[in-house]
Amino acid sequence: MNYADWLAYASQFLSQNLKNDPHLNAGLDANWLLQAAVKKSKSQIMAFSDTQLDEKTLQNLTALLTRRAAGEPIAYILGETEFWTLNLEVSPHTLIPRPDTEILVEQALARMPSKDGVAILDLGTGTGAIALSLAKELKKRGQKYRIFGVDLMPEAVALAQRNAVRNQLNDVEFYQSSWFDNVNGKFDLIVSNPPYIDPSDEHLTQGDVRFEPLSALIAEEQGYADLRHIIERAPHYLNPQGWLLLEHGWQQGEKVRAIFAENLWEKVATMKDYGDNERVTLAKLR
Ligand SMILES: C[S@@+](CC[C@H](N)C(=O)[O-])C[C@H]1O[C@@H](n2cnc3c(N)ncnc32)[C@H](O)[C@@H]1O
Repeated sequence: MNYADWLAYASQFLSQNLKNDPHLNAGLDANWLLQAAVKKSKSQIMAFSDTQLDEKTLQNLTALLTRRAAGEPIAYILGETEFWTLNLEVSPHTLIPRPDTEILVEQALARMPSKDGVAILDLGTGTGAIALSLAKELKKRGQKYRIFGVDLMPEAVALAQRNAVRNQLNDVEFYQSSWFDNVNGKFDLIVSNPPYIDPSDEHLTQGDVRFEPLSALIAEEQGYADLRHIIERAPHYLNPQGWLLLEHGWQQGEKVRAIFAENLWEKVATMKDYGDNERVTLAKLR
């Protein structure tokens, strides 16, 4: 079997096995798996599509294809994903960063004070996606910063640290903390994409999230407990006029806006994601 034969076979196999996945791009996924197995780029595979696959590589490809056909996200199989302008290692200890979270990065950049030494805190940093994206942009602007990311899970902290090295952003600091418990000092911006799914949500048994840890997904109070905790504690850790930006579920905007107490916060607003759903609510400390 050559590259082209395997791609045709694998695309069809994935289409059949994952026909209920509306986001499936079988051809693309088959190509990612082949690239990983033969360690060649997409263009090399195209240019040499009649290359024969040896028995050992075919066995390896079958193993990868079986995992993908069982619904495992391609990012976990490859061990990496793209977010913003970064390449990030991913692990089953935390969420795979989603394109919608780039809205949070955009909104944070739009509200970034222009001073040198701007202080930013990313709560529930996971892979470090948000903290590292902000660092990369500020570095590009030539603006000095102090950026910290915390996570409850030590494995996620270690992962974010590896991603800092991987993206040459070694000055971003990651450490373990349950929300603000080990956090000291004040920040100009606090950003977070906390767990916000209701533990009884039926979607937890479908698609990619089946493979992601519940510690990254669910929160008590129908998904609002962590959002509420962060909104209530953040004023103690923000500089005057500081911003808090939170990602949440597409149906949670109204309730999240209501949690921001009017006497403490101003400019409370919700931004939509690429699918036109309410996704990020932000507010400025009075
Ligand atoms: C939805 S994921 C977001 C990960 C990453 N920020 C992103 O946007 O891809 C939520 C993260 O919050 C972390 N987390 C859950 N409970 C936490 C807590 N009490 N304190 C700090 N982090 C927590 C999880 O381990 C997970 O990495």
